[in-house]
Amino acid sequence: MVNVAHTLENLHHESRSFRPHAAFAAHANATSYEYKKAGVDRLQYWREAALRLAWRQPFTEILDWSDAPVARWFHDGTLNACDNAVDRHVREGRGDRVAFHFVGEPGDTETLTYSDIHERVQKAANGLVALGLGKGDRVAIYLPQIPEAVVAMLACARIGAIHSVVFGGFSAESLRQRIDDAEAKLVITADGGNRRGAHLALKPLVDEALASHGEGTAHPEPCASVEHVLVVRRTGQETAWTEGRDVWWHDAVDPQPAEHEPEWVEAEHPLFILYTSGTTGTPKGLFHTTGGYLTGAAHTHRIVFDLKPDDVYWCTADVGWITGHSYIVYGPMINGATQVLYEGTPNTPHEGRWWEIVEQFKVTILYTAPTAIRTFMKWGEAIPQQFDLSSLRLLGSVGEPINPEAWMWYRRVIGGDRCPIVDTWWQTETGAIMISPLPGVTATKPGSAMTAMPGVCVDVVDDAGRPVPNGEGGYLVITEPWPSMLRGIWGNRHRYVSTYWNHFDGMYFAGDGAKKDVDGDLWLLGRVDDVMNVSGHRLTTTEIEHSLVAHPWVAEAAVVGASDEVTGQAVVAFVIVRGDAHGVPEDGDEVAAALREHVRHQIGSLAKPRTILVVSEVPKTRSGKIMRRLLRDVAEDRPTGDVTTLADPSVMDAIRTGLEAGTGD
Ligand code: WTA
Repeated sequence: MVNVAHTLENLHHESRSFRPHAAFAAHANATSYEYKKAGVDRLQYWREAALRLAWRQPFTEILDWSDAPVARWFHDGTLNACDNAVDRHVREGRGDRVAFHFVGEPGDTETLTYSDIHERVQKAANGLVALGLGKGDRVAIYLPQIPEAVVAMLACARIGAIHSVVFGGFSAESLRQRIDDAEAKLVITADGGNRRGAHLALKPLVDEALASHGEGTAHPEPCASVEHVLVVRRTGQETAWTEGRDVWWHDAVDPQPAEHEPEWVEAEHPLFILYTSGTTGTPKGLFHTTGGYLTGAAHTHRIVFDLKPDDVYWCTADVGWITGHSYIVYGPMINGATQVLYEGTPNTPHEGRWWEIVEQFKVTILYTAPTAIRTFMKWGEAIPQQFDLSSLRLLGSVGEPINPEAWMWYRRVIGGDRCPIVDTWWQTETGAIMISPLPGVTATKPGSAMTAMPGVCVDVVDDAGRPVPNGEGGYLVITEPWPSMLRGIWGNRHRYVSTYWNHFDGMYFAGDGAKKDVDGDLWLLGRVDDVMNVSGHRLTTTEIEHSLVAHPWVAEAAVVGASDEVTGQAVVAFVIVRGDAHGVPEDGDEVAAALREHVRHQIGSLAKPRTILVVSEVPKTRSGKIMRRLLRDVAEDRPTGDVTTLADPSVMDAIRTGLEAGTGD
């Protein structure tokens, strides 16, 4: 673990504080009574939240923690996630409510009501059954941000199959790893998606993922588990076709009957697997189960985003990440939200695209990431000011610490000084928001996520696991189980226990540094392990190092996350080129360009290093551990810190001199 002290030094005392406006507070879904209720009886509080779901068979036991750290919540109840997110609204007379205003990047739009989704999801469920899928089978979903992505997830849930959504920015290799680990029987994909005015191919990446990569590679055999590939036609691109394996969505799903009885599953039936970077380099398949996860997602969505029937809610995340799972698909849909679903990027075809969408659909609640806010700051406030943003009434932030300047800009320029901001801290592992203001209750400080949610017990502890006093920092832990907690790492209980529960006895270790300020409010300080946060995406240093050293030119690689004004952190790689490698370009820039492309191909564009520096050595301790702290100093252009533990202190001088002489990109 890295010492968090250096980050703490930079944190001044924040004296600004913003109370909720009286008019907002008067109508808020949540009052301070939430904290009181949860404080009196936490389990009873969660029981009441769970009872808002539609249960097929009611549960009698709230929590079974006898097999800790694997929790069982509401375990003797049965329900179905799709029934909760879709059928229930139709049943209760809300079928005509708009579920999604879909906006495609090229400008195509589609409005889907809950009844429309109900019809599509039943057809899709029948289509999946016809392809031989059933309860417990795993389905990989590799789709752009289009309505079929939501329908596909819900159709899996409807038949009790377990979805594993893989973000469309991941490479064929990353997709293959995830398919193999989950032993997926089906892949749902599209011919392609739209990205910055161009067609991005997806199906060819699935073909590559499933193929044999040849003798001596990591995948000498074709993928054994996948029986079918279900392909949505989105862009109309030509695509290769494997007869017998590949099927078009419009052939397999559209002609199906629009009646399907949901599979009623036990509360602890796995709902999905979602892979996230682990510190050892191989992605971890975190999995969530049905009853507890849905309780956490729906409850937090209702009280943090203050959702009302006439709100128009827009979460800008991709459904390929946990934020899309919990705060586009499950939480908001269970609450019957009307949402915007946008396929494209913020600057296609112009830098005002998001604000145009807010104006057009009269978005009232916007949930996005600090990296997006900083990008808009860079583009200038004149752009959002050209649009009518007066419909907005609440703003959310997620994914990384939000710096006070970005928070203030968000509040003033986007929120017109009238919208409360909820800075929400949580993780793929936690399933739902753990730390956040409640918008009608909490007076907020710019940059602080403030307090634990009602019913959630967090603390900040020192190396020995002792709670730190106010004004001090340490490691963020969660001290009691919560309904939407991960139930494990797919197929690897040992890794689950050692990653999260072995650091501090009986406490969940989040991997984040945090500080309690003098008032006891919480400030999140970023990761304390080898996980980087680049534009709100989690990546590990080791994962990228493994990819670099797999290239024939590279003898050794060290990767660090250096601070970056826009993306929060950026991937910076130091590589040592092999003396005996053939055909290595003389020019460091060419080496860097080839290696960046290599990482993109191996992991995906999101992992591509911003900078690759070719060096002759990397700093190591006497025991051979790479000293990333020193490399971060170089990457961030700071004087090098303490070098006394280095095996060879002159290494740092050599690196600096080499860089000044002009290698790198
Ligand atoms: C970071 C995303 C500070 C944190 C929901 C965490 C944050 C990791 C915040 C999880 C926030 C997320 N303030 N840091 N509001 N939200 N993080 O699994 O380091 O993609 O551990 O889940 O993002 O990333 P993940």
